[in-house]
Amino acid sequence: MIKIYKINRSKYFLLFSILFFQSWTLQLDNQLNKLNNQTIAVIGTGYVGLVTGAGLAECGNRVICVDIDINKIAKLNLGEIPIYEPGLKELVDKNRALDRLIFTNNIEDAIKKSDIIFIAVGTPMSDDGAADLSYVESVISNISININNYKIICTKSTVPVGTGSWIRLLLTNSGIKNSMFDLVSNPEFLREGSAVKDFLYPDRIVLGSDSKKALDIMCDIYKPLVTNGSQYMLTNITTAETIKYVTNAFLATKLTFINEISNYCDAVGANVKDVAYSLGLDKRISPLFLKPGPGFGGSCFPKDIIALVHSSDQNNIDLKIVKAVIEANEIQKNKPVEKLLELMSIKNIGASLDNLEATNLSLKNITIAVLGLAFKDNTDDIRYSPAITTLKLLLNYGANIKAYDPAAMKNMQQEFPEINYCSSAYDAIKDADALILMTEWPEFANLDIKKIKSIMHGNIIVDARNMFDISELKKHDFDVKLFGIPYN
Ligand code: UGA
Repeated sequence: MIKIYKINRSKYFLLFSILFFQSWTLQLDNQLNKLNNQTIAVIGTGYVGLVTGAGLAECGNRVICVDIDINKIAKLNLGEIPIYEPGLKELVDKNRALDRLIFTNNIEDAIKKSDIIFIAVGTPMSDDGAADLSYVESVISNISININNYKIICTKSTVPVGTGSWIRLLLTNSGIKNSMFDLVSNPEFLREGSAVKDFLYPDRIVLGSDSKKALDIMCDIYKPLVTNGSQYMLTNITTAETIKYVTNAFLATKLTFINEISNYCDAVGANVKDVAYSLGLDKRISPLFLKPGPGFGGSCFPKDIIALVHSSDQNNIDLKIVKAVIEANEIQKNKPVEKLLELMSIKNIGASLDNLEATNLSLKNITIAVLGLAFKDNTDDIRYSPAITTLKLLLNYGANIKAYDPAAMKNMQQEFPEINYCSSAYDAIKDADALILMTEWPEFANLDIKKIKSIMHGNIIVDARNMFDISELKKHDFDVKLFGIPYN
């Protein structure tokens, strides 16, 4: 009975998702009487650039998306989307068909033809923790060579506070008059896995500039989103740049707080789900970002909070809480394997994880199924994924690993070719001595516990996302560790 109900539920979810996507775009269509007059170049078609380009086209603007990667642009021109992001292909296809969205390698042409240039290139972490602005610098150099009339130059990439002033200096040092451009900072708050929805229905649109003219034009290109319920937040460039870092730092802090509280709940026998629910009912706190897990990863939080610490140190401000978040998150990433070893009755685990050489600990001939490799669900992104820590530790202990992820296996295979990648969750679980659930993919919640029991060799489960049905696990006699939820 339960199984049938769950299968139907996933079908309903799919149907609901399709209808929901159609309703987003239809609602926006109603707002668009005509195309905006502005032509926008979005430079960089990575995660942020591609979603921003498609989203701005959906708002009725003409958008030219540019990238130096010839293969990527060729694929995009064939309708292929280089990243896994629900709803993005539909948005790109629709706006390409309406001639509002084009892809090119020709940055010179895109600069000349555009009124607004969004910079959406990568700002990776340098060795010292600062954001590496070399890609941004290269775009500015191209703009300074090709600028042919007044342009708004807008930073969409996450850039360190002070980048706006630095860009102005680069341009004026290249001989570009201040009257030829205005600068805007327009940070993005998209989450991987729900980026299309986040773009079309943002909580706020932050625009920082010292030019009223530029702010008016920028407000215009986002108008359909505001008519749809979002709101502008207009400020100066430095404040807009700061808002981005502070938002990510705050979210990472909130999440790390609940992770630590889940460890405390484990120790005292409290239930973190109830604790978090109660916290969320307090309007001053909000219920979101209170799900404990194996620590945060991804391309944003780890990089951005380290960059914030770097910038604060340079300004002689000691951000103690943010520094503690970085440290606590590293500790949290060890938890899934620590809990696994505890279940396997291996004592003094904390010490042994730090000092593998000093122990005789071995998982040789033990097979561990790892479900989920991406840093979160609905993405193929494995950057700084907690699953990387888990895989490294398990490999260090000599375990055999059978892994499955609905989207991220290809990426993880490049990092860990020695692991056995499986075609389904059940395939990974078959004959395993223990199972660790790492990523909150919805399909894992629908796994049949009875079937898991029948195909697994052992009975040990570490559920790092508290996804499995506890009563089902108990019914089938599993030995289980959850995150902040008592089991026995
Ligand atoms: C994050 C921010 O949420 C976005 O607003 C921001 O635009 C983006 O960074 C960015 O700077 O580009 P993202 O990293 O894509 O987005 O994903 P999140 O949904 O924020 O998740 C981050 C990490 O926190 C994941 O590892 C996730 O599993 C974890 N998480 C999140 C939890 O463990 N529990 C939660 O309750 C929420």
